[in-house]
Amino acid sequence: MCGIFGIIAKKSDVAKKLLIIGKRLAYRGYDSAGLAVYKDGVIDLRKDVGTIDYVIESLKLAEMKGNIGIGQLRWSTFGKPSKINAQPHFDCDGDMIGAHNGNIISYYETKENLEKEGHNIISQNDGEICVHAIEKHYDKEQDMIKAIIGGIAEMEGAFAFVTYHKDSPEKLYAVKMGSSLVIGLGEEETYIASDLPSILPLTKKFVPLNDGEIVELTADSYRIFSVKDGSEITRESRISDLSAEDAVKGDFDYFLTKEIYEQVDATEKLAYGLESDVLDSLVEKLAKADKVFLIGCGSSLNACNVGSYYLNNVAGVLAIPVIGGRFFEEYKDYDPGDTTAMLCVSQSGETKDIINTINFAKPKGYHILGMVNVPGSTVERMSEAYAYIGAGIERSVPATKTYTNQVLLFLILAARVGHAKGKLSDKDFESLKDEIHNLSKLVEVTVKNSDERAKKIAKELSKINAMSLLGYGVTHGVALEGALKIREINYIAAEAMYSSEFKHGPLSIVSDGYPVIYVVAPNDKYYVISHISEVECREGRPIVIAEHIDGLDKYVQEEDYFEIPKSSQLISPILAVIPLQLLALYMSIERGINPDYPRNLSKTLTVD
Ligand code: M6R
Repeated sequence: MCGIFGIIAKKSDVAKKLLIIGKRLAYRGYDSAGLAVYKDGVIDLRKDVGTIDYVIESLKLAEMKGNIGIGQLRWSTFGKPSKINAQPHFDCDGDMIGAHNGNIISYYETKENLEKEGHNIISQNDGEICVHAIEKHYDKEQDMIKAIIGGIAEMEGAFAFVTYHKDSPEKLYAVKMGSSLVIGLGEEETYIASDLPSILPLTKKFVPLNDGEIVELTADSYRIFSVKDGSEITRESRISDLSAEDAVKGDFDYFLTKEIYEQVDATEKLAYGLESDVLDSLVEKLAKADKVFLIGCGSSLNACNVGSYYLNNVAGVLAIPVIGGRFFEEYKDYDPGDTTAMLCVSQSGETKDIINTINFAKPKGYHILGMVNVPGSTVERMSEAYAYIGAGIERSVPATKTYTNQVLLFLILAARVGHAKGKLSDKDFESLKDEIHNLSKLVEVTVKNSDERAKKIAKELSKINAMSLLGYGVTHGVALEGALKIREINYIAAEAMYSSEFKHGPLSIVSDGYPVIYVVAPNDKYYVISHISEVECREGRPIVIAEHIDGLDKYVQEEDYFEIPKSSQLISPILAVIPLQLLALYMSIERGINPDYPRNLSKTLTVD
């Protein structure tokens, strides 16, 4: 997805710093890059199709001089990737420059109206529409805030936009209308960017923004205004505890490898928070709810699938996982009363499907709760109570450590709620607590033990274009997550389902070495053995991920058994996902794919 960014500074060296931010937004996915820097009455615009390194090198972006500048990384939606469609864009007379992130769904209509009024629109890109719509109002108002308010009224869509005008080159403006945007405060310079991790090497001081807000930045101040009526909004800055170092590869070839290994630390840190009072408010709200919808997309949805098992079985709370984009269709006539909660799970806290669901559910009376990784994100700010999954920055497009910490946080919440409600005795709570505190050691053993085996099997599986993954009970979500990882970075068909469902049709695919991966929790041996033998006796290739379970090895070749450390029914799904992440990673490398940046995808999906 596109990334936008800007800096206004006292010194004339913004270009190099803009590139620091731009490079850190590259993980979101893009095909073109551009910068526009102002000095002495001239806006210098340089942009092109290609990687950010290519554009920096070929257009000498680092040499641009000026104390105000904006930049954009474009992921094409309206208009094919080309130099002219790359952003930023000028207005008609070259006095104003702007770039957007998101989609203007009224693109054709707004463009036609603006052209009828004489605007000269030269690209096929919707970002240019934003510039001209604001220009139209600036010509009348001669005031950027009023012009932005007027311009926005001309367009429909979900986006964020950053701009400046030659008339006031000491001020940078931006507006948030559905896509993520955050202000950063430095020493005699101020930043705006699509996400917080991108500005961390420059500052840890940030100001979160809500939809419907315009910002006016100078090198040492920020002001926020409402799009509704232009009134000023006061908001304090915050200090982020995320670390900028989290976002570099270090000795690893890929962010994905690093992030799989970082699960040891991430789970350890989160487990410390088990007794922390920062969870009190969320625990209290969940304990009061008689029903909770768990809303997520992709990996976060898969975490909800395991989470619903925990909440139902450990906490005694009826928990129903629902796809982010499905809720408002499926439950449009449902009356939540006063005791229905909605726990929105999102790494970025910016996913549009989730925000749409919250916008639908909040006015109906659902208690909105959040589970996010990015502090200050939109989901956090829309929630009555929330918790951080504390996985640190995740750069690779495939979710790994954030998925694992979401599942662990579900277990922690279920334990706390179950104990608070008396469903879990003191003794059982203490023993679950010990298991959670011990988890990171088991994660470490699992990563180390699975690595070589995954590499070896990956060599064979990377030649195969389809496979099935099966889970049962608490491991169903793990199978779903494993299949998503394999599909996402291998471009093959990997389907996941409940293991008892396999015989109801899909079994017909099995013959001649077809791989079927079983994820088995310790107590489920007796249900799963018959499912495995159905495949084994039809010449399929069962691969098993489980702790040592007597008798299971009879159905599987020794080299196809990923033996994870002994744990318990509740802990085992957190370990079992690791061999699948490694398998997906090594298969992808075998195929010559960069697993950090799979084609067509982006890390944060702020569009419908
Ligand atoms: O930021 P979110 O957790 O809301 O993102 C949801 C999905 O887009 C995300 O989990 C996606 O499925 C993963 N990148 C897949 O690995």
